[in-house]
Amino acid sequence: MYEQPQVSINGDIDKDFGKYLELKSKDNSPIGGMFVTNMRNANNVDPDFTKLFDKKKFQTVPLNYDNSLFAHSLEIDKNNQRNGYGSQILDHCHNFTKQNGYDYLTLMVYDDNIPAKNLYKKMGYKKLNSDENVEFYFVEL
Ligand SMILES: CC(C)(COP(=O)(O)OP(=O)(O)OC[C@H]1O[C@@H](n2cnc3c(N)ncnc32)[C@H](O)[C@@H]1OP(=O)(O)O)[C@@H](O)C(=O)NCCC(=O)NCCS
Repeated sequence: MYEQPQVSINGDIDKDFGKYLELKSKDNSPIGGMFVTNMRNANNVDPDFTKLFDKKKFQTVPLNYDNSLFAHSLEIDKNNQRNGYGSQILDHCHNFTKQNGYDYLTLMVYDDNIPAKNLYKKMGYKKLNSDENVEFYFVEL
């Protein structure tokens, strides 16, 4: 059995890389983390993504800068992978996003990143689009 980790959420959603969600074990050692950021602050979001977003390439889904946040840089420490922590931190991120009045979370992933793509599919993400070797996903919260 693994200990229930603690989650801290620090930073500013509109500045730098956004808010950082950090997972720590009970003895305070880091397990992993991720960022969530406002898409209006284009410095924090991959320009490939905003380019597609601004061109309204995703006609079938009503995503916009007021109803969506962008998640990036999710990483679970190698020794702690496959223990459910990635799912857990994403769950926190979904709650945080919804509680702050947003209906969607979006992200991008390299098309050969099978672990991450499996995780996102398991968490209910749907593919929006792809561009070269990158795929774009969203989840409705
Ligand atoms: C992707 C990543 C965050 C997953 O974190 P994790 O804590 O290992 O994920 P979980 O234990 O919550 O796994 C949830 C699901 O993800 C999928 N998954 C996770 N690791 C996998 C692997 N190595 N191979 C295949 N599927 C995998 C599975 O569907 C898994 O469900 P299951 O265990 O019931 O089969 C982790 O592998 C990682 O940090 N990778 C390196 C950084 C990275 O690629 N980040 C994503 C950037 S977009």
